[in-house]
Amino acid sequence: MKFTAIAIIIFRSKKWKTNGIIKNTKGKQTMELTNLTGLRGEVTVPGDKSISHRCVMFGSIARGITEVQNFLEGADCLATIRCFQSLGIEIEQKGSSVLIRGKGLHGLAAPSGRLDTGNSGTTTRLLCGILAGQPFDSKIAGDNSLNSRPMKRIIEPLTQMGANISSILRNGCAPLYITPGYLHGIHYVSPVASAQVKSCVLLAGLYAQGETSVTEPSPSRNHTELMLKEFGADINSFPEPEGTKVTASIRPCKELYGQKIAVPGDISSAAYFIAAGLLVPESEILIKEIGINPTRSGFLKVCRDMGGHITLFNERTQAGEPVADILVRTSRLHGITIQGGIIPTLIDEIPIIAVMAAMAEGTTVIRNAAELKVKESDRIETVTDNLKSMGCYVIPTDDGMVIQGGRPLRGTNIHTLLDHRIAMAFSIAALVAEGTTRILDSRCVDVSFPGFYDTFESLL
Ligand code: S3P
Repeated sequence: MKFTAIAIIIFRSKKWKTNGIIKNTKGKQTMELTNLTGLRGEVTVPGDKSISHRCVMFGSIARGITEVQNFLEGADCLATIRCFQSLGIEIEQKGSSVLIRGKGLHGLAAPSGRLDTGNSGTTTRLLCGILAGQPFDSKIAGDNSLNSRPMKRIIEPLTQMGANISSILRNGCAPLYITPGYLHGIHYVSPVASAQVKSCVLLAGLYAQGETSVTEPSPSRNHTELMLKEFGADINSFPEPEGTKVTASIRPCKELYGQKIAVPGDISSAAYFIAAGLLVPESEILIKEIGINPTRSGFLKVCRDMGGHITLFNERTQAGEPVADILVRTSRLHGITIQGGIIPTLIDEIPIIAVMAAMAEGTTVIRNAAELKVKESDRIETVTDNLKSMGCYVIPTDDGMVIQGGRPLRGTNIHTLLDHRIAMAFSIAALVAEGTTRILDSRCVDVSFPGFYDTFESLL
């Protein structure tokens, strides 16, 4: 069953008391949900968003064919495909299978118009790293949310490398304008632990003279390093003497070479089913083929630290990435403190962690997560405002939040601000809240998880 614009979804089970979409105005939709018990069964989730983006980007600048299976057909990754098609790369996408006819490191062509990166920070920032090394001009812009997110964090290191990149409105945001520059390697000490910044600089490093390296305050996701290595890049990462910091470095190479890649399931999407399995009474869910790369799997540690029953099966490696099946059962959760180096490994999961914390006994403190303010929405604000309106006692802070758990949540209207992770996190809150919850603009889940509500239906 498809989550279409005008459908009224009647769920099979009586336990799921909602009848789905109740409103449909100008493409904006409301999903109405009530509480339930007994989520049981097996699910898979779509391919990893970060890895799907990188397959298209690296495949486009590699020589030969790259074949991708389990590609995420979410709006963000489709924006990446469209951008590289505009740069002259032939890309065939049929569902979750994608074939990219790469033209090599120097095979991109000047786009005829502005490159539209939609809602996607990853597309925008990584693409800029590649475009900085091209012999043609380009303009890049996205939707209103994307165009208000900070781009100085990439403009600065790229400029240090000799790139010509500017914010057209001089506000440090997209639209961005890039003209040809002569790039040289730098050692960049990034003030933020951001895989998008790190990847942008490393990708520019493919076109720079000499070595380019990036040190982060704490390690962010390392899919770029793992995947570029598979494509044949001269890239390495090593721990800094202080222990917690990691430096990644790259040297230009002659060519990258097309690969076959099976994208693991996205742990950020699996997180909603893991949380549902922990929170909804009498549940047991097996979530299959999920990427558990240690730079992404902080959420699993947090679930366990909160008292969650989680078991990993069939641990294996797929396309250089660790993968496992995850079994989760209803558990009594308690509050914990989450701070420091683990934050970048679960940054996208904080909205759903906050929902779990609201249902847990005791206090949960989240610190060192100021990056939440510059995601698809200001997630400190969107999470705490929505939790408050559900009756939770929560205080926003400069770099996180304090959540007093254990009070019953009550159904209300959830303002997603078109942020996919807010829509999905509060859909799970709805399953354990008293009364009815309405997720406004719920269609934004399509950014990273088309079929989110259908996958839930399969568990009823
Ligand atoms: C991503 C990195 C993270 C993450 C985003 C995807 C990536 O952003 O929040 O959803 O694919 O590199 P930052 O690099 O800004 O932390």
